[in-house]
Amino acid sequence: MTQTRSAAELDHRRAVNVALLGAGVVGSQVVRLLTEQADELAARIGAPLHLVGVAVRRPQRHPDVPADLLTTDAAELVSRDEVDVVVELVGGIEPVRGLLLTALKNGKSVVSANKALLAEDGAALAAAADESGADLYYEASVAGAIPLLRPIQQSLAGDRIVRVAGIVNGTTNFILSAMASSGANYTEALEEAGRLGYAEADPTADVDGYDAASKAAILASLAFHTRVTADDVYREGIRDVTAADIAAAKALGCTVKLLAICEQTDGSVSARVHPAMIPRSHPLASVSGAYNAVFIEAAAAGQLMFYGQGAGGPQTASAVLGDLVAAARNRVIGGRGPRDTAHAALPVLAMGDTHTRYHVALDVTDRAGVLAQVAGVFAEHGVSIATVRQEGRGGTSGSDADDGAPGPKDATLVIVTHSASDAALAATVEALTGLDAVRGVAGVLRVEGLGRPVTELGGGS
Ligand code: HSE
Repeated sequence: MTQTRSAAELDHRRAVNVALLGAGVVGSQVVRLLTEQADELAARIGAPLHLVGVAVRRPQRHPDVPADLLTTDAAELVSRDEVDVVVELVGGIEPVRGLLLTALKNGKSVVSANKALLAEDGAALAAAADESGADLYYEASVAGAIPLLRPIQQSLAGDRIVRVAGIVNGTTNFILSAMASSGANYTEALEEAGRLGYAEADPTADVDGYDAASKAAILASLAFHTRVTADDVYREGIRDVTAADIAAAKALGCTVKLLAICEQTDGSVSARVHPAMIPRSHPLASVSGAYNAVFIEAAAAGQLMFYGQGAGGPQTASAVLGDLVAAARNRVIGGRGPRDTAHAALPVLAMGDTHTRYHVALDVTDRAGVLAQVAGVFAEHGVSIATVRQEGRGGTSGSDADDGAPGPKDATLVIVTHSASDAALAATVEALTGLDAVRGVAGVLRVEGLGRPVTELGGGS
């Protein structure tokens, strides 16, 4: 029989005491939801949740938080005997790392949204949690409201994940979507993102890919049972994506996205963040604006897609509350949830050894033999060409005319390769720049199909 636990029944149980570090955009929403939904959360957990303290830097800036809960002494708060669960929404590495290690070592469960810390030192936090038997949950650290880490860790625990690829940064997705829809260049789109509140005053963490790289490290670690840190993740941001790149993608039936791609192939793993063309027919291509979406391929489950809002106060607070309820339930029942496992300890491939495809646009002199020369460079590097298109540009490259007559016309060669090692592709582009007939490299972007059958990735046999 299903029934809601009565208040009297709940009173039998000791409350689960919660300390909150940080009361900003997400933290203030956590406080609100904890207050507004107190009875419902207590019924779900089997014991009431009590917020016993909120550590902030400037208490006067938090009129919405009951004054008697506010403190500026986070170290004292996380050390209080009464605290069962510490919710950390401060971000950054120090002093948070020390505070959370202390809490975990003292047996307090931790719920954190701190992607940078987890991507840098998740191993130390997990070890401290294992030592004391506490829970360490961090669903909100990747893709805000989207349930992603729990499905990877729990729902797919019996499967073998071969790829996790997606759009995990809303700011850059907004900028690239704006460039695609209006033809704006990067700077104009960034300014618009700032005006509308999608980009921070210092957008570095987003536009240079640091935020996405931290998330990729967390996803790869969980998906492949291997510790992958932010330093292991190859990272390229979107600053160099041009309006011409976006137009070239359109011409190929593609769109440009900043992707986080984590793969397991042949006994090793890789994790990378970079802009790439993807076919407009791929489900990730239609993810626009500030939304996030992640595509998981598993050997038995096949392809799964997770979509939703990757940032925002209430959205991220939803993920935090989910973790908090899970940690509190474990306290009430007297156990702990699934722990991080890194038993596979697979080697992490260098970017040069990962396999991708390139789109290369070359400004060349349009005369006999140039295409053959260009193709020869690809062949020398063992890179197979999938398609070549020539666009005449109508101009002349006067330097070839030594008799006063107009020189050969310029043209743009647009080449898309088959899959090759990133090192071979990069060396090919480097060598192309040395050809006399190549006047310039107009654009280089990786191309990701993202639709390879699982069997091709080694998971189907
Ligand atoms: N700044 C991130 C984004 C959200 O733009 O998606 C928090 O990780």
